[in-house]
Amino acid sequence: SLERDLAGRHVVVSAGGTREPLDPVRFLGNRSSGKQGYALAATAAARGARVTLLSANAELPDPAGVDVVRVSTALQLREAALKAVVDADVVVMAAAVADFRPAEYASGKIKKVEGVEPAPVALVRNPDILAELSAHRARPGQLVVGFAAETDDALANGRAKLARKGCDLLVVNEVGETKVFGRDTNAAVVLGADGAEVHVPDGPKEALADRVWDEVAARLA
Ligand code: PMT
Repeated sequence: SLERDLAGRHVVVSAGGTREPLDPVRFLGNRSSGKQGYALAATAAARGARVTLLSANAELPDPAGVDVVRVSTALQLREAALKAVVDADVVVMAAAVADFRPAEYASGKIKKVEGVEPAPVALVRNPDILAELSAHRARPGQLVVGFAAETDDALANGRAKLARKGCDLLVVNEVGETKVFGRDTNAAVVLGADGAEVHVPDGPKEALADRVWDEVAARLA
């Protein structure tokens, strides 16, 4: 879209994947490259929005004219998100957030000991940032958009996730070891709490981003 239909709006986008450290050397992570979130940030800026990009471990150049806030863990992303959304019209959670983190952080590198079996890694739940942002809107009428990375039954799981998270829109993409993560293209279904179901065919991540902003713009007061 060449229209500056997001002019005067502040949008917050999260991108990349959180890393949950086990020790100073290792972490639990995921395959998100940040490309989809960066495409959302760049296209929103092109449509006139003021954009805050919460970037989790992405190795990508800063999009022009976008405020980039770097975070690493889910807890850091939550802090940054709660701060950024205070005056936001829209928040889009495209980051892949770890549902769990190691219960304990070892301040020194975990060593292997000859003849001793490794200890299992205990995990604890991370807060659900999207659910929290949806339940406690920082502003009346603030739109909250989630993404859902599904490996099977994408539509059914997406509908259930939309209801559970309480967001306005959920962009459901089918991921796999060789699908979506790190690639330049994506296909998705945009589900609305209002019943909308928009199928976006495979194409550049910027094209999907623009379709998401179309749906957002149509719902902004
Ligand atoms: O970065 P790329 O390589 O371009 O890949 C893009 C992508 C596949 C990462 C992206 O398109 C995507 O699907 N992002 C969401 C990944 C994800 O975490 O999905 P989920 O189904 O686990 O989570 C659903 C939603 O809840 C997401 O909006 C997520 O940001 C949010 N969430 C999840 C867990 C948690 N503790 N807090 C959250 O806010």
